[in-house]
Amino acid sequence: MKRVLVTGAAGFIGSHVSEELLRRGDTVVGIDNVNDYYATESKRRNIALLEKMPGFHFVEGEIENSDLLEDSFRKHGITHVAHLAARAGVRPSIEDPFIYSRSNVHGTLTVLEVARKFGVENTVVTSSSSVYGNSQRVPFKEDDSATDQPISPYAATKKATEVLSHTYHHLYAMNINVVRPFTVYGPRGRPDMAPWLFLAAARNGTPIKKFGNGETRRDYTFVGDFVTGFIAAIDRPLGFEIFNLGNSATVSLNEALDIVSRITGKELIIEQHSAQPGDVEITNADISKARRLLEYAPKTSFEDGMRTFNEWYGLNVNG
Ligand SMILES: NC(=O)c1ccc[n+]([C@@H]2O[C@H](COP(=O)([O-])OP(=O)(O)OC[C@H]3O[C@@H](n4cnc5c(N)ncnc54)[C@H](O)[C@@H]3O)[C@@H](O)[C@H]2O)c1
Repeated sequence: MKRVLVTGAAGFIGSHVSEELLRRGDTVVGIDNVNDYYATESKRRNIALLEKMPGFHFVEGEIENSDLLEDSFRKHGITHVAHLAARAGVRPSIEDPFIYSRSNVHGTLTVLEVARKFGVENTVVTSSSSVYGNSQRVPFKEDDSATDQPISPYAATKKATEVLSHTYHHLYAMNINVVRPFTVYGPRGRPDMAPWLFLAAARNGTPIKKFGNGETRRDYTFVGDFVTGFIAAIDRPLGFEIFNLGNSATVSLNEALDIVSRITGKELIIEQHSAQPGDVEITNADISKARRLLEYAPKTSFEDGMRTFNEWYGLNVNG
């Protein structure tokens, strides 16, 4: 049985990772500052859900606060770290880069430093597919040097977390698996991300902002698939490795909108806009390394995943 510190446990992916760890009998200490990047009520609901499960302890606060982290490590004898807390989102990072640097860079450094001090067995650090920027090498492979040229403050902070992780592995022989998620969506999803925005607009009969000609493609990953890969990364200390955790199939914006229309049974109201600066043409994960070393095998198509998301949305957001 593992005793796992999950940072960002109140958030979308962190709550799913925590739930899965608790379900199999691990102890989870969740830390989250419950910030208002999006509605804090949904984060509070996630915490309440986790608190119903045996083995969950919640600490409200900043990951930059090393005293708070050390207290949790000491009190609960943490054996593993699942680091998911971060400021997410590309566009807002252009508006306020400092808040991204504080949470994502200083925060990650604090988590790594405390994990080192307490000698944990394995740490998983969450990066992002954004580090690939406008890479022309499609599908994206982990060793792509395009990740040295991030194109947003968010991507730059995520690249920094990877580099710091490597340093801690090199200096202290820590086991650290870095994972790069590709547009994760599903129940309890993030309200600022396209899958949520599309569903909400379709169901409410409000306009959907469409940027560009609809031919941009995304590798959408269903949260249940992502979590199996993430947990395999917790369970396998491998020295230092970086893994793409995507679906590996891509869906164009036009196809995604068709799917949303089909599963909600609604005609979409499209508001056309020109392509946005900073948006990338395609994200597409080569997942052969994760298949090989983590036995990662995503199996949910975008249409099936969106059906599940839509059902959850109807029951939990508005019916
Ligand atoms: N959802 C995706 O598609 C996606 C894609 C790429 C990368 N990621 C990464 O995955 C991780 C989880 O993302 P998510 O989609 O669940 O986002 P999320 O915003 O729902 O979750 C992040 C959580 O971290 C908390 N947090 C942020 N800064 C903190 C700080 N300084 N101290 C304590 N808590 C803090 C937030 O309150 C939030 O609950 C993040 O690291 C994100 O960058 C997500």
